[in-house]
Amino acid sequence: MKSPCIIALDFQSRKEVEVFLKEFPNECLSVKIGMELYYSEGPAMVQMLKTAGHEIFLDLKLHDIPNTVRATMKQLASLGVDMVNVHAAGGTKMMRAAMEGLKEGTPIGKKRPICIAVTQLTSTSEEQMQKEQWIEKPLADTVVHFAKLAKESGLDGVVCSALEVPMISQAVGKDFCTVTPGIRMQTASMDDQVRVVTPDEARRLGSTYMVVGRNITKAENKKEAYTQIMKLWEEAKT
Ligand code: C5P
Repeated sequence: MKSPCIIALDFQSRKEVEVFLKEFPNECLSVKIGMELYYSEGPAMVQMLKTAGHEIFLDLKLHDIPNTVRATMKQLASLGVDMVNVHAAGGTKMMRAAMEGLKEGTPIGKKRPICIAVTQLTSTSEEQMQKEQWIEKPLADTVVHFAKLAKESGLDGVVCSALEVPMISQAVGKDFCTVTPGIRMQTASMDDQVRVVTPDEARRLGSTYMVVGRNITKAENKKEAYTQIMKLWEEAKT
């Protein structure tokens, strides 16, 4: 994907998306379609955004038996999206199957979508992970473990907090893609995110892409918010 800033289109309907995109005339953006939008508007939403020239991260976080994930990824690749994801907890067999499905479904002459893994959701606390998932390890170790499994399975990267990027890069290499939500212009305004970083911090920590939702979609001047976020990223020294 070309832009380091992926805008999370956390909207319920195509209509809301169209109103938002009016603020960005003639601009090719990188956008994220999540479950809410995909389950309400379906593949037609992907087609509309593609036709308008935008790059798409389809954030459906697949987690099922390998055969189902392979078949589903084949379908998603045929839609022509640029990035997809799975839960690493689905296991190496499932992740390998996801990659096979993507390769099978990518139209000839097109690029295979980037496939990244969710390690532990950033909404999961260490206490919850230990009590409910019965994983008796520190959360950070689990994140690195899942990143290693994703790499072994041939995936391109992980979704994680920017604060986790240095330890992931150290464990699996700097060329492993890291996609980082929890970005705020001012770290004081957190909404429901637990750990947030600014765009320049995210870049210095080594993020490949940042995912930004409300700081752009709920801003009074959305275009200006996007431009400022990109400026902070561009100016940050790596
Ligand atoms: O509005 P905000 O910038 O917090 O939105 C972040 C986006 O990234 C949302 O679409 C959210 O679902 C997504 N996300 C996240 N944390 C993860 C994975 C995805 O916040 N671990």
